[in-house]
Amino acid sequence: MYRFVFTQVLSRFDPEDVHHLTVRGLRLLSVTPVVKKLVHRRLAPRDPALRVQAFGVHFPGPFGLAAGFDKDAGCVEAMSALGFGHVEVGTITAHAQPGNARPRLFRLAGERAIINRMGFNNAGAGAAARALSRVRGVPAIVGVNIGKTKVVPESEAVSDYVASARELAPSADYLVVNVSSPNTPGLRNLQAVELLRPLLKAVKEVADGTPKRTPLLVKIAPDLADEDVDAVADLALELGLDGIIATNTTISREGVASTETGGLSGRPVKARSLEVLRRLRSRVGDRLVLVSVGGVEDVDDVWERLLAGATLVQGYTGLIYHGPLWANRIHRQLARRMRRHGVTDLREIIGRTAS
Ligand SMILES: Cc1cc2nc3c(=O)[nH]c(=O)nc-3n(C[C@H](O)[C@H](O)[C@H](O)COP(=O)(O)O)c2cc1C
Repeated sequence: MYRFVFTQVLSRFDPEDVHHLTVRGLRLLSVTPVVKKLVHRRLAPRDPALRVQAFGVHFPGPFGLAAGFDKDAGCVEAMSALGFGHVEVGTITAHAQPGNARPRLFRLAGERAIINRMGFNNAGAGAAARALSRVRGVPAIVGVNIGKTKVVPESEAVSDYVASARELAPSADYLVVNVSSPNTPGLRNLQAVELLRPLLKAVKEVADGTPKRTPLLVKIAPDLADEDVDAVADLALELGLDGIIATNTTISREGVASTETGGLSGRPVKARSLEVLRRLRSRVGDRLVLVSVGGVEDVDDVWERLLAGATLVQGYTGLIYHGPLWANRIHRQLARRMRRHGVTDLREIIGRTAS
């Protein structure tokens, strides 16, 4: 049904217009108490076997919505009601900013991929904090992903991230330092450990200072060389971070015809995302929570990521191609597969194929 709507209707319109319209609809759902509760009752994961705990937070299911869809934390309840086990909002920057000029979002339907160069368009940390204070009515686990304001120079990046963290850490179930988006000039340089160490240290101090200590993760790019993946993993352990999210979009254009600039997501990043996950797992074992994202399309992908050592799995591009019931379907099929394999707790399978 969704495939028909996508090919016959949605694909004929500008992707960003469709996105804004969708988010507006989901916002409406988020503020409609009875309907969102009904949808939540019907679609949110409720099988106890799917529950998973990571960094002290209880998730109703392992599959969540990756950052970039709900930039301003406007539809957290709707996405939770639709079946995502957590919603990562953002990327949010300390100051509001418009992002790059349109067009900046491109569908590559044949490749089940997207290229975006949105550039962290968002209403700023203050507005996001206010939006998060209004989240209620259905249970929702919220990750808050923060990034650098474009006009702030790299030399002032730390204080810019710290300003966002101060504003947002108290309302986050976990906080993510995003240093891996390709659409803010210079941002990915911050992945180099000598720049990343002071940044993560400073944000961690803020996260540790909230009343319930907010878990802190860092999100990395698939384009890092293997040794740099190891270096970030070692740094995360050294600083006592809670986890790593791998991966963001890629600047590689391998396997796709489009030459639009920006970050490529979806099926073409699947293999590298899994490779980075395996590398991280072999480096850190179960000492960090690994969140795997990139090219996840179905329950087979989620199963594979869990076996490879991810405690949580995320997706975004798949939502565009598979529609609003995507997360519900994945969780239902995952629960069924667990039963078939005699698995009653996800801890039995997380990292089972890891070396
Ligand atoms: C349109 C779009 C916007 C995105 N914006 C962000 C963002 O603001 N911050 C971020 O950390 N990741 C962002 N991402 C990356 C996703 O969170 C995810 O890491 C990446 O797309 C790979 O997952 P996927 O293949 O399931 O989409 C964005 C992705 C897309 C497609």
